[in-house]
Amino acid sequence: MSVKVGIIGIGQMGKSYALKLDKGFIEGAELTAVCGRLTQHEWAITNLKDQVKFYEDESAFFNESGIEAVLIATPHYSHPELAMKAFAKGMDVLLEKPAGVYTKNVLEMNEAAARSGKVFSMMFNQRTNPLYQKLRNLILSGELGEIKRTNWIITDWYRSQSYYDSSHWRATWKGDGGGVLLNQAPHQLDLWQWTTGLLPTRVHAFCHYGKYHDIEVEDDVTAYVEYENGATGVFIASTGEAPGTNRFEIQGNRGKIVIENDALSFYRLTQSEREFNAVYKGSFGKPECWTIDIPITGENTGHQGIIQNWIDAIIKGTPLLAPGEEGIKGVELANAIYLSSWLNQTIELPVDADLYYEKLQEKIHQSQFAKQKKV
Ligand SMILES: NC(=O)c1ccc[n+]([C@@H]2O[C@H](COP(=O)([O-])OP(=O)(O)OC[C@H]3O[C@@H](n4cnc5c(N)ncnc54)[C@H](O)[C@@H]3O)[C@@H](O)[C@H]2O)c1
Repeated sequence: MSVKVGIIGIGQMGKSYALKLDKGFIEGAELTAVCGRLTQHEWAITNLKDQVKFYEDESAFFNESGIEAVLIATPHYSHPELAMKAFAKGMDVLLEKPAGVYTKNVLEMNEAAARSGKVFSMMFNQRTNPLYQKLRNLILSGELGEIKRTNWIITDWYRSQSYYDSSHWRATWKGDGGGVLLNQAPHQLDLWQWTTGLLPTRVHAFCHYGKYHDIEVEDDVTAYVEYENGATGVFIASTGEAPGTNRFEIQGNRGKIVIENDALSFYRLTQSEREFNAVYKGSFGKPECWTIDIPITGENTGHQGIIQNWIDAIIKGTPLLAPGEEGIKGVELANAIYLSSWLNQTIELPVDADLYYEKLQEKIHQSQFAKQKKV
């Protein structure tokens, strides 16, 4: 069996997915149609097999192409809307990150997905990284004990002004829906809660808008969060620092794990800190700590791994690595961070979806930001 796949959005990512599928890198899938702007037709003719049909008209792509499954690689705002069109046509969906810009329509999309019963996956390609899989495994198996603190500094998403100037929609409330939180850091917002199994319940955040670039959205974020079990966390993201840092540190009752420079270090306590504290009678003692080299095996299959997993789920019922319904968690976190920064108050999760939508509309309508119009 071979699944007939279509791709909508033939930009930077859509082109790379089209090539992977068209060259046969995905077992059990056949690229049969793509939908893009007229300017991308020439690229499709030159780079894809003759039998791949090109559609400029979105409705013809959904209604007449005969595809069974669709990979959506368009800009953020269109994600839920296009996914819902696909579910209504009985298609399986693989959706680029983020799941959407605001939770109000991501919730609608999730309901439509559930009603359709189709296979719905998110392109969270970093979930294929064995480092994060191992981290998740160590936490969920209880090896690290109860979590006390999570800290992620993700400031190595450096972007220059020329990057922001490259498209008129980029880094605007109306076109992009946000800055580093919506565009660069959705992978970390996903991994932050996927690896720990914890979604914060309260957020207080500080965003700086256009701090390092001539843009209207945020390029510098510091969020403080609290979890139901009393743990706290900090998430820091920026596109204005070089070389920047990518360091994820999780402190548990049984030690600490640090992921940095593509390596995982486990500092393991021989006795849990809570137990030690209950029985220790000396002055300045600490629980004994061993530094353990955890072997990391397996391949980081990235985007190709996620597409293959989605196709395997369609054909063989293989469990999804990144179920589509989970995309809302990262959007929820991003919405809470913005809302907290705009209102200067602590925000409880789940975010009030209507309030966030209303405040986002205000940002869009009050925008004075003018960019030179580019394609
Ligand atoms: N997973 C990753 O590693 C990764 C990396 C970069 C970007 N992305 C995500 O991929 C998505 C696309 O990003 P990109 O960098 O390819 O952007 P892009 O601007 O290069 O491509 C998007 C394309 O979609 C087209 N488009 C918009 N609406 C359309 C519609 N209704 N029908 C057909 N085509 C339409 C645009 O004209 C454009 O050609 C975004 O959600 C982005 O956040 C993911």
